[in-house]
Amino acid sequence: MEKTKVNLKEMVKSKYNTIANQSIQQNQSSCCGSTGCCDTIEYSVFSDSYDHLSGYAPEADLGLGCGLPTEFAKLEAGQTVLDLGSGAGNDCFVARSFVGETGKVIGLDFADNMLSQAIENAKKLNYSNVSFVKGDIEEMPIESDSVDVIISNCVLNLVPDKDKAFQQMHRVLNTGGHFSVSDVVLMGDLPEALIHDAEMYAGCVSGAIQKEDYLSVIKKSGFKNIQVQKEKEVIVPDEILSNYLDQEALAKFKSSNIGIYSITVYAEK
Ligand SMILES: C[S@@+](CC[C@H](N)C(=O)[O-])C[C@H]1O[C@@H](n2cnc3c(N)ncnc32)[C@H](O)[C@@H]1O
Repeated sequence: MEKTKVNLKEMVKSKYNTIANQSIQQNQSSCCGSTGCCDTIEYSVFSDSYDHLSGYAPEADLGLGCGLPTEFAKLEAGQTVLDLGSGAGNDCFVARSFVGETGKVIGLDFADNMLSQAIENAKKLNYSNVSFVKGDIEEMPIESDSVDVIISNCVLNLVPDKDKAFQQMHRVLNTGGHFSVSDVVLMGDLPEALIHDAEMYAGCVSGAIQKEDYLSVIKKSGFKNIQVQKEKEVIVPDEILSNYLDQEALAKFKSSNIGIYSITVYAEK
């Protein structure tokens, strides 16, 4: 793999190892949960409230999501669900409330500290059918044709090779299986300063690709019945943008249709 992609991945892993040990308050007061990196995007501009969701375990919520994929994933009792980039297990525990005792939930993450938080949370909740696996989404250690539903929340934008990620998702899903993922995408070209800031990448924005490209990668990976289930523009506050853009660039940016969006996408194998 290209050196830069390896570096970006290692940076993302190290950042989320740190974030795993921070509180939701610390995470929400800084960019995508990371303190002192770029002081750019307040994470709360992305996260949706989980309070109304059955199975919600506040201790597993590090404030790192950008949607509610479990609401759109058509989850049913007895299904096997895979959560990509499961963090401290937040969406896994909500998914568990849908699939019940007879189902199975697997969380996959490559950051050790996230995995240990998630395992500890599952133990406290006494869930024996929620497990966590260490692995990279680009080459996941999951059997082919073994999963009914994949969910993921604000993770795939962080994965450098999105083709590989969606191809792997297609491989592990059962025929007739589906995914519902929430993620961050772009519409139009963001200013260079935002794109090239590596810290922003780990902070969830600059690793995002164009919405149209995102949907084409999904199609190219063999998925059908692709639907955008939810779309919400992320309004980035001026004081944050002005860390990256001078007055003139800021005004130009704001008068354009260019933007960052949180979307939830569904597709079937
Ligand atoms: C923004 S957090 C979201 C965590 C969780 N989905 C949530 O909503 O709380 C991104 C997570 O994805 C994991 N991650 C990022 N890239 C990954 C990769 N290539 N393979 C596995 N996990 C990855 C990070 O370690 C981190 O836990």
